[in-house]
Amino acid sequence: MPTAAAQAQVDDLPKIIQNNLDKPGNLLKILEQAQESDPKHYLSEKTLRTVADTLGLPLTQVYSVVTFYSFFNLKPQGKHSIVVCRGTACHTRGSLALLNEALHNMGIKSFKEEEENSVTSLDGFASVRTVACFGQCALAPVIQIDGVVKSRMTIGKLVSLLEKMKKEAKNERKN
Ligand code: FES
Repeated sequence: MPTAAAQAQVDDLPKIIQNNLDKPGNLLKILEQAQESDPKHYLSEKTLRTVADTLGLPLTQVYSVVTFYSFFNLKPQGKHSIVVCRGTACHTRGSLALLNEALHNMGIKSFKEEEENSVTSLDGFASVRTVACFGQCALAPVIQIDGVVKSRMTIGKLVSLLEKMKKEAKNERKN
């Protein structure tokens, strides 16, 4: 029996496809909206198959679009998102240490940066990913937490941001 979350995704998809059918660039728009509407912010195989079948496209074409753009997820994502810039400017100002701290703080043991798009903590609390450049190199090192860009990041600042995030989640659970 499908879960409520899976049902929500299945219910939304035909409407998303219908609303974008005649628009230019409809494949990207549909995929973006389908991912947004999914409670775990990812595109399941079922979603990709439905999109391909409805648009009359080969599934391989849909997959190649999804794998080309780094903002698409093929795996369920955590509740929070931590994105660490690994471009040259950020790397020279310590982004690897920031990435390692984010992983360690979330209890994530390994992340193959070159092979994986993102990694999610076992408790589903957060997903950690990297980007090639945020386009804000003058403010390096740059990270993004839940869509908010944070510049001139330090390990100390990162740790306090992550601890605050955990504390807020704990308080939410209590209420
Ligand atoms: S290299 Fe990090 S913002 Fe450009």
